[in-house]
Amino acid sequence: MDELPIQSGDDVVRVRQRVRVLAAEGGLSLVDQTKVVTAASELARNALVHGGGGLARVELVRSGNGRSGVKIDFRDEGPGIPDLDLAMTDGWSTGGGLGLGLSGARRLVDEFELTSKAGGGTSVVVVKWSR
Ligand SMILES: Nc1ncnc2c1ncn2[C@@H]1O[C@H](COP(=O)(O)OP(=O)(O)OP(=O)(O)O)[C@@H](O)[C@H]1O
Ligand SMILES: [Mg+2]
Repeated sequence: MDELPIQSGDDVVRVRQRVRVLAAEGGLSLVDQTKVVTAASELARNALVHGGGGLARVELVRSGNGRSGVKIDFRDEGPGIPDLDLAMTDGWSTGGGLGLGLSGARRLVDEFELTSKAGGGTSVVVVKWSR
């Protein structure tokens, strides 16, 4: 398992690169590699921009039926998200963004678990499986 800081734009690039390498190692197709890299990029950027910086833990995992996958655990100790349903809505943004980062990331991966509360930081765990 790799633990990568997310404190700058360069860190976001490093997270993308690490996810790309692991996804290739895990045998994900080029299309699926790109999907998980895109999701990781959005979530890392959210940790940086909205969460004031955080961490990504990136690892290869194996499913019960022998598939490999890439798991990424993002966390920050920022202000948290008071209304998760609202935050997951296409087009909803508190920062003048497109509001497509969270909702788009969820569509690009196989497993997506968002945990957050106002004042309590934010954690997003995603998995993309090879098929
Ligand atoms: N890690 C986080 N900490 C606190 N708030 C967050 C975090 N991630 C997302 N949010 C909240 O959820 C909203 C929606 O996030 P989302 O990524 O979908 O859109 P965005 O970042 O505003 O715009 P973009 O489309 O550029 O990503 C954000 O505007 C922000 O209010
Ligand atoms: Mg975003």
